Amino acid sequence: MEKPVHVAPPPAGLRGTIAVPGDKSIAHRALLFGALAEGETVVSGFPGGADTLSTLGAVRALGAAAEQKGDVVRIEGRGLALGRDLELQIDCGNSGTTMRLVAGLAAGVPGHVVLDGDASLARRPMERVAEPLRAMGATIETTAGHAPLAVRGAALTAIEWTLRVASAQVKSAILLAGLRASGTTRVREPLASRDHTERLLPHFGARLTRGAAGVGVEGGARLRATTVPLPGDPSSAAFLVVAASLVPGSDLRLTAVGTNPTRTGFLDVLRRMGAAIEVRNETEIAGEPRAELHVRAARLRGTDILPEEVPGTIDELPVLCVAAACAEGETTIAGAAELRVKESDRIAALEQLRLLGVPVRATSDGLVIRGNGGRRLASAQIATHGDHRVAMAFAVAGLVADGGVAIDDPGSAAVSFPHFFARLAGLGARVASER
Ligand code: S3P
Repeated sequence: MEKPVHVAPPPAGLRGTIAVPGDKSIAHRALLFGALAEGETVVSGFPGGADTLSTLGAVRALGAAAEQKGDVVRIEGRGLALGRDLELQIDCGNSGTTMRLVAGLAAGVPGHVVLDGDASLARRPMERVAEPLRAMGATIETTAGHAPLAVRGAALTAIEWTLRVASAQVKSAILLAGLRASGTTRVREPLASRDHTERLLPHFGARLTRGAAGVGVEGGARLRATTVPLPGDPSSAAFLVVAASLVPGSDLRLTAVGTNPTRTGFLDVLRRMGAAIEVRNETEIAGEPRAELHVRAARLRGTDILPEEVPGTIDELPVLCVAAACAEGETTIAGAAELRVKESDRIAALEQLRLLGVPVRATSDGLVIRGNGGRRLASAQIATHGDHRVAMAFAVAGLVADGGVAIDDPGSAAVSFPHFFARLAGLGARVASER
């Protein structure tokens, strides 16, 4: 744990042009698919946050050689033999994506892989991924529904599975297992979650179908190595987009941010709230669109974030709550019980907005926030609970809090956004380490 950091309102608006780190979700997938492919895969724009380093470690443990130089990772894939006959323990750190996707990957080859992680990851639900993998033929033991997770791989049979809760991690774990199963594995979800697996697998040569019956993958396909230039992570961009919207006089450009429509729900919500955001020069590389975002400060008003919008905004809800705290009128979030089982109980963590003088009511599956109409927030000390998105969301609040906000564990931001506080300072924010 690093020393606490204090973030205070800058003397002028946030200004400049910035490239945020590469997309964490796509990076996990690019590493894992690269390890399963034949030949050398090159991933560029690698974010290098702790979560993606956990997946890089997992890929190496499973037998694929991988070399990282700056933001480029080269992986020598092992084909469908990846992980065969290995007895391993893999530390997934704080990363739910690593644990759930690697479980799917390990389910289809003989071997014994124990997946473990930090205290936060050990609190997150794992039966949701164990259940379908068992139905395919693997032996999966959870520890009372949680990590450690022991995976004994086997010859798998395809399944048709309907998820109870939209989850890209569980969907992707089933599709990864489906790559080594006999037959066509199909997954349906109640609402669409991020579709990076569906976009990236065909780029590696897998045969995938998408339609009303869900997404299907054919077993036994060989993946071929490819190059994956990652777009900037829209979830990381969201902190800066809200920051620039709130700090008067801001004018910020964010280059090459991923604009996959399953990830840009936060832009729709912010625009509805009155934010001034332009999306320019969209291009598509390796199946994933990216564009420049141009954000200027604006007056915001409250909104209702509906249950059907939740999968598309799930990781951005903490910072959207900060936007709501500074908006005119009330904002409601419903159908977001998943927030309770993220890196921390984010509904409970966000109740700390009260310390900043904002009336907040937590419900079982959301929050009701009465915005202060754009006045300064009060000064407070915030507990991040080791959660990167809680740390960064409250840092954004500090930019508009009289006397600033102290964040107890700024180091946690490096899970997805290395050097977040330094980058924020580079845009004009006042960031100081506390003694
Ligand atoms: C992710 C999926 C989401 C998201 C997480 C990353 C992914 O989780 O919250 O940060 O990369 O697949 P769920 O799959 O649990 O919804």
